[in-house]
Amino acid sequence: MNHAHHVYRERRAALLQSMRQHANGGLALVPTAPEVARNRDSTYPYRFDSYFYYLTGFPEPEAVVALVAGSDGPASDRHVLFCREKNEEREIWDGFRYGPDAAREIFGFDEAHPIGELDRVLADLASDRPALYTPLGMSDQWDRKVAQTLNDVRNRVRTGVTAPETVVDVRGALDSMRLVKDAHEIALMKKACAISSEAHVQAMRNTRPGQFEYQAEAELAYVFLREGAQAVAYPSIVASGPNACVLHYRDNNRRMMDGDLLLIDAGCEYQGYASDITRTFPVNGKFTGPQRDVYELVLQSQLACLDAIKPGIDFHEYHGVAERVLAQGYIDLGLCSGTLDGVLESGAYKQFYMHRAGHWLGMDVHDAGQYRVNGASVKLAPGMVLTVEPGTYIRPADNVPEAFWNIGIRIEDDVLVTAAGHENLTAACPKTVAAIEALR
Ligand code: GLY
Ligand code: MN
Ligand code: MN
Repeated sequence: MNHAHHVYRERRAALLQSMRQHANGGLALVPTAPEVARNRDSTYPYRFDSYFYYLTGFPEPEAVVALVAGSDGPASDRHVLFCREKNEEREIWDGFRYGPDAAREIFGFDEAHPIGELDRVLADLASDRPALYTPLGMSDQWDRKVAQTLNDVRNRVRTGVTAPETVVDVRGALDSMRLVKDAHEIALMKKACAISSEAHVQAMRNTRPGQFEYQAEAELAYVFLREGAQAVAYPSIVASGPNACVLHYRDNNRRMMDGDLLLIDAGCEYQGYASDITRTFPVNGKFTGPQRDVYELVLQSQLACLDAIKPGIDFHEYHGVAERVLAQGYIDLGLCSGTLDGVLESGAYKQFYMHRAGHWLGMDVHDAGQYRVNGASVKLAPGMVLTVEPGTYIRPADNVPEAFWNIGIRIEDDVLVTAAGHENLTAACPKTVAAIEALR
């Protein structure tokens, strides 16, 4: 087995162990994502399914992992991969395919078979298993295959086999595993964060009044690709002036003006792992007075959130920290009136801050993992990675002094919870007023 891939086998072993504890064994089936047509004979850039890749490290489409948990401990387990066959003709046109033999060897499987054999052997695989673990409701096509397999086994019971009595959405167990990152994942996330930090610096350095937003987007994309990232983790938000108050702005085509702020929310995906950074800076390199006042407030709230992050606190705690700091700031700036408790209670601050302060981060930008269990907030633990991203968005309104109109600011870092507290994985990306102005 290739040493680099033992980590995936260990994850499969952990899933198999949880299946044994749950139902005395069973069969897990996890398909990867399909290729999707874009137009005529072109496809969208291929992205594997995160759950499948987490268990396999196998990058090709048309693949399914089957894991058999025996009742006699790990020695009775079987790790099986179904994948595309070698095909000299297709490989000349479209590139390399591992094929079952090489895939079994390299990715640490006990068996590998051509994907074309899957339908023929599924009922055998599922026979005499107490439970079936698979994604449910993820795709109609896969749901039909699962139902067909269960029916096929049930139709055989007169021959003496038993059909699975339980069908479990395997994503539950995998979500819990994915929530706490292992050393291999943390290394990849640090790399993704380093590339994205550099990309933001590149955009800050090269943005000038008169350029279009997409030109800043091009600076980001240049660094992502140059540094070996395969994709963006989500469509880059490059929002200048009033566009910064549109939370999921995507057009990226406005001409940036002298005196505008530019909010960039962008992160690359590196070997399957996301980064997610937001920085806001003046297009001409110098904050105006009101821009600076609001910026310092958002930064103060972001630093207060970071301060709160350590093992044992509720996930929701730092969101509360952001709300308190921002609400007090809105009172001080004359954007809200009354007492802090009053503003928090009435929700008046939500006119300017209406989203959550962060989310889990991992293979998916809004990553797998629960936020509440039985109503109680999940507590932070070492190995969890989350974003910290308070913001303030001031749309023109009768109750707002005109000097603040169209200021939209968010500051977002990616944070690893550690035994000692936390590590900011995107600390290399400048965020103080002085550091940003000094870049130019
Ligand atoms: N870029 C999406 C987010 O910040 O959640
Ligand atoms: Mn973001
Ligand atoms: Mn985010």
